[in-house]
Amino acid sequence: MDEIKRIAEISKQQHIEEDKNENSLRPQSLDDFIGQKKLKNNLKIFIEASKKRHEVLDHCLFYAPPGLGKTTLSHIIAKEMGCNLRITSGPVLERIGDLAAILTNLSEGDIFFIDEIHRMNHLVEESLYPVMEDFKLDIIIGQGPSAKTIKLPVPRFTLVGATTRAGLLSSPLRDRFGIIEHLTFYDTRELTQIVNRSAMIMNITIDEKASEEIAKRSRGTPRIVNRLLKRVRDFAEVKDGKVTYTIAKEALSALEVDSAGLDKIDRLILTVVIEKFNGGPVGIDTIASAISEESDTIADIYEPYLIKSGFIAKTPRGRIATEIGYKHIGIDPQKNFQKKEFHRF
Ligand SMILES: Nc1ncnc2c1ncn2[C@@H]1O[C@H](COP(=O)(O)OP(=O)(O)O)[C@@H](O)[C@H]1O
Ligand SMILES: [Mg+2]
Repeated sequence: MDEIKRIAEISKQQHIEEDKNENSLRPQSLDDFIGQKKLKNNLKIFIEASKKRHEVLDHCLFYAPPGLGKTTLSHIIAKEMGCNLRITSGPVLERIGDLAAILTNLSEGDIFFIDEIHRMNHLVEESLYPVMEDFKLDIIIGQGPSAKTIKLPVPRFTLVGATTRAGLLSSPLRDRFGIIEHLTFYDTRELTQIVNRSAMIMNITIDEKASEEIAKRSRGTPRIVNRLLKRVRDFAEVKDGKVTYTIAKEALSALEVDSAGLDKIDRLILTVVIEKFNGGPVGIDTIASAISEESDTIADIYEPYLIKSGFIAKTPRGRIATEIGYKHIGIDPQKNFQKKEFHRF
């Protein structure tokens, strides 16, 4: 089990940790940002309209699994609006004072980005409501019966919040965002474009077929594209430096990323659902304890892609492995389906 824990930790870090070089690969403008067409069109209109009216942009909430471009979008918005970007994250804002310190230092029109906004202390969250609505922060001065609330005006700014699941946010907070956008997994064509774009920035020579192979195995996620591309480049460098299809395949299998882009932990989850729980239905907490992982990590990082690619399905009674899930790990679905009639699709 210790080995699994170690692999789970590495796998998790690879999904969520921002690379040191991530900034150099970030698209700088909406036109540079690949995919998410609908979201991009909407944002373009909202940005243009608010600039025309000389107003600050409405507060924006982006929700998506890690690595799909939430932080990147906050940078782009600041650039397109021509203002400063101030970045923090939910867990860092421990006290109202932490929030007050940032808010009072903002300039008119600034973009204030709160990553993992669902992990904010609830007192801090509540103090954010009047700020989002009226740009006034309620501060209590003094104690006991003589305590007074003063309303501290803050510059008009745009709050950009990022979260992995919209459902994690309380509805009063969610309702205060004027713009709520969901980023979806990228398709192979878009991911191939991202591979090629990053390869160009990193000065890597790569075959079209190799780009496509990396794209296919990147779980619909640009951050994983960039990570795999770097690792594949390492394999190429010990040869003649050029990333060919053969080298890409060889490197990806050495990295234990399978043909569907699943890593060890993804496969472990699928295997546990099938072998330990007869294909489900099984609750996420049960899966989590079976592989000694936190349920939130499974729900945020692994499950969305397993569901998106159709290996696992969500039912009111829990998660079930689908027929293609069985086939992917090489188990005959019929055997289990015969045992449990309700598993049929
Ligand atoms: N639409 C996109 N086009 C090109 N690269 C992207 C795109 N979205 C994300 N990336 C790349 O993926 C990496 C992770 O994106 P990021 O915005 O940090 O994800 P998130 O904040 O959602 O976890 C960044 O380095 C960025 O270069
Ligand atoms: Mg981010």
